[in-house]
Amino acid sequence: MAVSYKDLGLVNSEEMFSKAVDGGYAIPGFNFNNMEQLQAIIQACTESRSPVILQVSKGAREYANQTLLRYLAQGAVEYSKEIGGGKNVPIVLHLDHGDSFETCVSCIEYGFSSVMIDGSHFSYEENIALTKKVVDYAHKYEVTVEGELGVLAGVEDEVSAEHHTYTRPEEVEDFVKRTGVDSLAISIGTSHGAYKFKPGQKAEIRLDILREIEKRIPRFPIVMHGSSSVPQDLIAKINRFGGKMEEAIGISEAQIREASKSAVCKVNIDSDGRLAMTAAIREVFATKPSEFDPRKYLGPARNALKELYKHKVSDEVLGSAGKA
Ligand code: G3H
Ligand code: 13P
Ligand code: ZN
Repeated sequence: MAVSYKDLGLVNSEEMFSKAVDGGYAIPGFNFNNMEQLQAIIQACTESRSPVILQVSKGAREYANQTLLRYLAQGAVEYSKEIGGGKNVPIVLHLDHGDSFETCVSCIEYGFSSVMIDGSHFSYEENIALTKKVVDYAHKYEVTVEGELGVLAGVEDEVSAEHHTYTRPEEVEDFVKRTGVDSLAISIGTSHGAYKFKPGQKAEIRLDILREIEKRIPRFPIVMHGSSSVPQDLIAKINRFGGKMEEAIGISEAQIREASKSAVCKVNIDSDGRLAMTAAIREVFATKPSEFDPRKYLGPARNALKELYKHKVSDEVLGSAGKA
C-alpha cells in the first residue's frame, strides 16, 4: 500500500540543503541496514541536534526488506522525538544509488522523501533523459532528487571503474537545467569503500574542480559520495583483534571540512561506520570469547558507531551539529 513520506513525519531535502549551503556546513548521508545502525544514527544526530539523511542502498533493501525499512524510518522519527525532549530532528529517507526509474517509483510509494537516480554510467544524453524522467515523477509527490555526473573509481552500483572520470564543470549547468534535479553528486577523487588511494599516492581530492563547478552553478546543492576517512586507529584495532586490513586510506577530514564549507551540502559516509562496528565487535570476540549474547557485541558496536557519528557532525568535519 502506497504511503506518503509526510505521513511518516519525514521531510524532503529542500530546506535542509538551502540552509546548509547558506550556513557553510553539510548534512550527513549515513547508510543503514539494521536497527543498531539506525539507533546509532538517530541517537548521535538527536543528541547533537543535527539534521540527517538516512540512506538506503539497493543492497540494504535486499538485506533488510523494504517494508521493514519503511517502519524503521517511521520509528526513527518517533524515537528522535522521544529522546529529543519531544522534538525530533529533521529526517530524510533517501534512496542511495537508485539504478532505475522503477526502483525510484517503488521507493517513493514506500515513503521515501528523496531518491538518487544514478545515471552516471550512461552516456550524457541518456543520463539526462533518465534523470529527468525520475524528477518529473518525483516532483509530483514533492520528493527531491539527486543526480550524478562523473564516475567514481572503484565499484559503484555493481559497475566497476578503474579510474575516476571527474565531473566536467562545463556540463553541470546544462545538466541541472535540463533535468530539474534538486542536488548533484560529483566525482572529484572520492571513491567508495576503505581503499580509496594506493599506498604512496597523494591522498587528496580535487577541490579545484569543486570550485570550478561552484562557479558555474553558484549555491546549487552539491553531494560528495565516498567520503569516509578510514580512521587509522580503527584499522589498527581491527588488525589487533584478528582482522586483516592493510593500507586502507580514506579522505582527510580536513578536506571534507573544507568542502562542507562550500556548496557541498551532503556528504555520504558508510565505510567508516562499518569499520567502527567491526572493530568493536572484534574486540568483544577476542577479549570475551565465551560471550554469545548478540546484545553484548552489537551494543558496544552501536556505541562506537554513535561516537563516530557525533564526531562526523561536529564542527571538526561536517558542522551540522546544532543546526536542527
Ligand atoms: O554507495 C555505497 C554504500 O556504501 C552502500 O553500500 O551497496 O554495500 O549497501 P552497499
Ligand atoms: P564510503 O564508502 O566512503 O563511506 O561512501 C559511502 C557512499 O558514498 C554511499 O553512497
Ligand atoms: Zn555512494
